[in-house]
Amino acid sequence: MNKQAIDTLLQKINDSAISEGNPRTKEIVNRIVRDLFYTIEDLDVQPDEFWTALNYLGDAGKSGELGLLAAGLAFEHFLDLRLDEAEAKAGIEGGTPRTIEGPLYVAGAPESAGHARLDDGTDPGQTLVMRGRVLGEDGKPLANALVEVWHANHLGNYSYFDKSQPAFNLRRSIRTDASGNYSFRSVVPVGYSVPPQGQTQLLLDQLGRHGHRPAHIHFFISAPGFRKLTTQINIDGDPYLWDDFAFATRDGLVPAVKQAEGAEGKPYGVEGNFALIDFDFTLFKERDNLPGAEVERLRAEA
Ligand code: DHB
Ligand code: FE
Repeated sequence: MNKQAIDTLLQKINDSAISEGNPRTKEIVNRIVRDLFYTIEDLDVQPDEFWTALNYLGDAGKSGELGLLAAGLAFEHFLDLRLDEAEAKAGIEGGTPRTIEGPLYVAGAPESAGHARLDDGTDPGQTLVMRGRVLGEDGKPLANALVEVWHANHLGNYSYFDKSQPAFNLRRSIRTDASGNYSFRSVVPVGYSVPPQGQTQLLLDQLGRHGHRPAHIHFFISAPGFRKLTTQINIDGDPYLWDDFAFATRDGLVPAVKQAEGAEGKPYGVEGNFALIDFDFTLFKERDNLPGAEVERLRAEA
């Protein structure tokens, strides 16, 4: 079928509208349908291939894996790069890089002032203390900023989605103190892999790709009047550090993991050896020439 015949069909579909509908939706859907028609034509996609793909998306939806797919096919990273570009155009550069939220945040984690312990003492792994400040772009500390933190356990699993873990295990919200300081105690996470029997892995196999992420810790950092920062830090030395299936590792997000002991652990109730990460977050002031940095998406809430 030639492109002209395809365009005639597309026009017919477009002309079938009986009301205005939503112009934005219409524009986007029409464009996607056109691109898919062209793809089917150019690659001579067969009916059984088309239905396999459609059923695949249905299955991925039913098993709750569409968010994983968005990360694994780099859509989430691509959206980050586009936000970076919009910010750069508005004169915002430097500061703490953003990186993907991923599909595993859960709203409602317990909040504490200044410091929190994320684990309940039963998680295996080396004790970790991470600490630092939340700063404005002028370098001034932000008191009462909210640091939301979440990460996987020693098996790479996240509480809530992994029902064997206690509620909000390895998830907390921490308010910075008057000097902009936050700190938390936890255990060093290990890398994450998509469910091996799941729909995402099924597609990754077809693409000849793996579904591993390097060990990482997620953050939302927010303060009134400032652009919300969605980011992660990676644990240095992980074999997948620069081979993340979600493409989320970025320069500036791989802090040194120091080994500490003795008196240094005292303020955090830690005895003996522990891993220590120092990391400051820098937020930019809200600007009105930019789309907001707060992204609306469906999130779990407990
Ligand atoms: C996925 C899992 C994560 O822990 C993450 O941070 C990002 C993506 C995923 O399964 O797609
Ligand atoms: Fe994650």
